Amino acid sequence: MNQKEIHIHFEEYASIDELPAEDRELADEAIQAMQGAYAPYSHFHVGAAVRMSNGQIVRGANQENAAFPSGLCAERTAMFAAGARYPDKDMRSIALVGGVYGRITDQPATPCGACRQVMAQYQTKAGKPMSVIMIGAHKVWKFGKVDDILPLIFDSI
Ligand code: THU
Repeated sequence: MNQKEIHIHFEEYASIDELPAEDRELADEAIQAMQGAYAPYSHFHVGAAVRMSNGQIVRGANQENAAFPSGLCAERTAMFAAGARYPDKDMRSIALVGGVYGRITDQPATPCGACRQVMAQYQTKAGKPMSVIMIGAHKVWKFGKVDDILPLIFDSI
């Protein structure tokens, strides 16, 4: 038997102002995207923005529904829109932010497992790392690849 370890690498910033220019722009788009949230049940507004390999940015926001499982997270709303709009382009990075009634959480918003799996597959489709930027009011995290937030990714089929 061997003991094994998986290491996760990420960067921490005090605010989006410290991010490199392209990431800061994407973070701003994610914050703007929160305005598109439809969250009459949780009142938790989430915004996401995806940067494509052609430089285009696609926004998404969470959409809730009275039939609860029919709703969708901001990240998947953004990624599915981006995939449908630019099927031949790669997703290079995604930023996300959330907060009750749009007041950004102090700690970075972290994506749910289902959204991580969807990120993983678009990363596999691209064959290149996709970075993930999680925004909080007092802290921002940047992960260089989806593997760092979803170790042992399922991509066997
Ligand atoms: N939500 C997202 O949009 N992204 C996440 O990563 C986690 C949760 C949404 C789903 C639901 O509309 C609300 O936040 C509360 O869970």
